[in-house]
Amino acid sequence: MSAMRLSLLLLVAAAALSARAAAQMPPFQGGQQGPPVVPAGGQVQPQPVAGGGPLSPEFYSQSCPRTERIIAEVVQSKQMANPTTAAGVLRVFFHDCFVSGCDASVLIASNQFAKSEHDAEINHSLPGDAFDAVVRAKLALELECPGVVSCADILALASRVLVTMTGGPRYPVSLGRRDSLSSSPTAPDVELPHANYTVDRLIQMFGAKGFTVQELVALSGAHTLGFSHCKEFADRLYNFRDKGGKPEDFDPSMNQSYAKGLQAVCKDYLKDPTIAAFNDIMTPGKFDNMYFVNLERGLGLLSTDEELFTDPRTKPLVQRYAANSTAFFDDFGRAMEKLSLFGVKTGADGEIRRRCDAYNNGPMPK
Ligand code: HEM
Ligand SMILES: *[C@@H]1O[C@H](CO)[C@@H](O)[C@H](O)[C@H]1NC(C)=O
Ligand SMILES: *[C@@H]1O[C@H](CO)[C@@H](O)[C@H](O)[C@H]1NC(C)=O
Ligand SMILES: *[C@@H]1O[C@H](CO)[C@@H](O)[C@H](O)[C@H]1NC(C)=O
Ligand SMILES: *[C@@H]1O[C@H](CO)[C@@H](O)[C@H](O)[C@H]1NC(C)=O
Repeated sequence: MSAMRLSLLLLVAAAALSARAAAQMPPFQGGQQGPPVVPAGGQVQPQPVAGGGPLSPEFYSQSCPRTERIIAEVVQSKQMANPTTAAGVLRVFFHDCFVSGCDASVLIASNQFAKSEHDAEINHSLPGDAFDAVVRAKLALELECPGVVSCADILALASRVLVTMTGGPRYPVSLGRRDSLSSSPTAPDVELPHANYTVDRLIQMFGAKGFTVQELVALSGAHTLGFSHCKEFADRLYNFRDKGGKPEDFDPSMNQSYAKGLQAVCKDYLKDPTIAAFNDIMTPGKFDNMYFVNLERGLGLLSTDEELFTDPRTKPLVQRYAANSTAFFDDFGRAMEKLSLFGVKTGADGEIRRRCDAYNNGPMPK
C-alpha cells in the first residue's frame, strides 16, 4: 500500500469520525428523569442464583427465553444505523468489568446526591451510542419479562452479539449476573489502563486482576474496532522526545507516512477535541486480526498498542495473532469468556435493576 493511499484513508476516516462525533448522543445526564420503565406492580420476582452459585448460559431459559434474541434484534439494528455501536459497547463492557466486576456499575448515572463511575468515565469519553443500545435492549426486555434480566447480563450479551456481527468469534456467555448496588466515581482512574502506560504496567495491572500476558494481548485485539481521540496519542506526534530526551518529528516506532497523516488529521485537536482516528486504519469496522498485522508495520495507533510489538514478552503473541486469525479468535473468545465472569455479583450482593442507569431503591447508593 502506498503512502498516498494511507493518507487518503486517514482523511476519509477523520471525516467519517467527526460526523459521528457531531451526531453523538450525550451520555446520561442525571438518572432520575423520566418515568420508571416498569409500571407499578408489573415486577416479577427474579430467579435467584442457586446458592449464589455459578452462572449458566441457560439462566433465563425459563424466566425469559427470548432474552438473547431480543437483545440481538435491538443492538443489531442500532449497529446498522450507527456502525460504531459495536466498538462502543465492547469498550463499555471492558470498563464495566475491570472496575469492580461485570455488574453494570458503569451504567449508573450520577445525580445531585451521588457521583458514580460514569462521572469519571466521561473523561474516558465512553460513547453515548453504547449506553443507548443498552437502554433500548432493557426497554424491550422489560416489556417482555419485567424485572428479570440484569443490565450486567445485557451488556455481556450485547458485546458478544456485536463482536460476532462485526466478524469476530462467538464465545460462550454465562448468565445470572446481578447489577451492582454501588458505583464509585474514583475507581475508573485507578482500575483502567491509560494509553501512555508501559507494557510493564499493563502486565502488572492485568496480572493483579488475574489475567495473563496472553490474555492481555488477545483482549487488546479489541482495538481492531472503533477509534481514539487525538489526545490519546498526540504525545507520539508532537514534541516527541526519545528515552534519552532527544527531540524527534514523531515516535520513531510509527510508520512514517502514518505518523505524518495523523499529524495532519490531529493538528487542531486542542481546539476540536472530537477529532479522532480509527484504531485499525485498514479495516476499522471489521472484527479481524488486522490490528496485529498493523502493529508489525508500525501502524499501531496508541503507544500501548505499538509497544506490544516492541516488548519481548508480548511480541511473539502479536506475531502469532497477526499470522493466524484462528489463533487470535480462539484466544480472544476464551479471554472474553473469562473477562465476562470477572467479579460478577449474585444473590444479595446485587439486584435486577428496573432501569440500567439507577438503583431500584432511589438515588442514594447503599
Ligand atoms: C490494554 C490496555 C488498554 C488501553 C490502554 C486502552 C485504551 C483505550 C483508549 C485510550 C481508547 C480511545 C478512547 C477514546 O479516545 O474515545 C480505547 C478505545 C477502545 N478500546 Fe481500549 N484500551 C485497552 C484495552 C482494551 C480492551 C481489553 C478492550 C475490550 C476487550 C478495549 C476496547 C476498546 C474499544 C472497542 C475501543 C474503541 C471505542 C470506540 O470506538 O468507541 N480496550 N482504548
Ligand atoms: C508505511 O506503511 C505503508 C503501508 O503499509 C507502506 O507502504 C510503507 O512502505 C511504510 N513505510 C515505512 C517507512 O515503513
Ligand atoms: C475529569 O477531568 C477534569 C480535567 O482533567 C478533572 O478536573 C475532573 O476532576 C475529572 N473528573 C473526574 C470525575 O475524574
Ligand atoms: C498518562 O495519562 C494520564 C491521563 O491522561 C495522565 O494523568 C498522566 O500524567 C500520564 N502519565 C504520563 C507518564 O505521561
Ligand atoms: C492457527 O491456530 C490454530 C489454533 O491455535 C491452530 O489449530 C492452527 O494449526 C494454526 N494454523 C497455522 C497455519 O499455524
